[in-house]
Amino acid sequence: MKTATKNLEDDHVYVLKLTDVMVAVTHSENPDTDHIRSIIDIIKNFADGLHHAKEENLFFPALALKGFSAQQGPVAVMLREHIEGRNYVKGISDNLELFDKGDKSAKTGIYQNMRGYAELLVNHIGKENNILFRMADKVLSEREQQELLSDFEKIENDRTEGKKAEDYIKTILSLASYYKV
Ligand SMILES: [Fe+2]
Repeated sequence: MKTATKNLEDDHVYVLKLTDVMVAVTHSENPDTDHIRSIIDIIKNFADGLHHAKEENLFFPALALKGFSAQQGPVAVMLREHIEGRNYVKGISDNLELFDKGDKSAKTGIYQNMRGYAELLVNHIGKENNILFRMADKVLSEREQQELLSDFEKIENDRTEGKKAEDYIKTILSLASYYKV
């Protein structure tokens, strides 16, 4: 049966694919600014706007009811890492803006923040998949999993900003095939 934790794990497959693309992009001598802009859009609207919204607005609060504090322990660590991720994205955007204005040395900042984001997310997703979600599977009843899952689908369907998840996934896969990752 499809569960809420499985739904989040399915998103992770594509977020990890995106991190592979990000590392591959940093191997180019000249930054492909269109690709980088597209990556920022995917992170803001899919990885953060949709996936992290499901976690932060629904999944973590459901875990809080089971005694998982948002101030300490695994959920607190996950929340902190989401903020770290946003800081890396700001670093990518800020440096991209400088680069677009002609400051070619900003390439280093773009690439450092892209690699930082990729490394953070690979570790973060590893912790969620292997530790937090397995704990969640133990404490959430089948009914709670199903309720969360339908609330996840609601978030996705009610969103007015950005494109649909499947559109972002398509872009991730086409970038992945372009960079052969
Ligand atoms: Fe996640």
